[in-house]
Amino acid sequence: MLIAIDGPAGAGKSTVARAVARRLSFTYLDSGAMYRCVALCSLASPGAPLAELARAAQIELGGTQPQGVGRVLLDGRDVSEEIRTPEVSEEASRVAADPGVRAALVSSQRALIAGGNWVAEGRDIGTVVAPDAELKVFLTASPEERARRRAAELGADSHTVLAEQALRDERDATREHSPLQPAPGAVMLDTSSLTVEEVVERIAALARAPSSTA
Ligand code: CDP
Repeated sequence: MLIAIDGPAGAGKSTVARAVARRLSFTYLDSGAMYRCVALCSLASPGAPLAELARAAQIELGGTQPQGVGRVLLDGRDVSEEIRTPEVSEEASRVAADPGVRAALVSSQRALIAGGNWVAEGRDIGTVVAPDAELKVFLTASPEERARRRAAELGADSHTVLAEQALRDERDATREHSPLQPAPGAVMLDTSSLTVEEVVERIAALARAPSSTA
């Protein structure tokens, strides 16, 4: 079974997807970490062809191991913290608009999720990577709430985060290839006034009865 969780930055995808995976003993796939790794390669080699960087990058997601703790390895190096900086977020959103980068990463993601039970999160899991997912969830929250959460996570100023987030949302939603949008049949879940536990519980309930609505 595959549960696809898509949505904008700060909607709670990572926290929720991890917790749902733990609750159901599924494996967790953080597709954004893969775009972040390509962003790191691009920052290290400015001007290099992006699709080639994406094809060459050896990305290992610790979260795919049963005992994994969400570590991310790029070409054998632990980049788990390095890929979370605002500079890398911005570059990830830029490289993610490149069709060659998307093709390379989508094909790795499909190979990964081909067997077993998965919770995969990102922007295009339900629309492109796995349109046949048994359960698709689109997580949202107000821009202010999303910025507040991300600022708390980063220890940053929420006004600055809100401005950066608006640029990234705009780019992710309007790009030509795989723009961020709810997949047909996705369950819309606004997390603005829900606790993580409530969101996890709703998704776990839907997974037990995917044909019902939230
Ligand atoms: O954690 P946050 O939602 O801020 O970002 P992320 O999920 O780590 O993704 C970083 C960037 O990668 C996003 O801004 C998207 O541009 C891109 N991305 C994508 O295009 N498709 C995905 N499946 C996942 C991420």
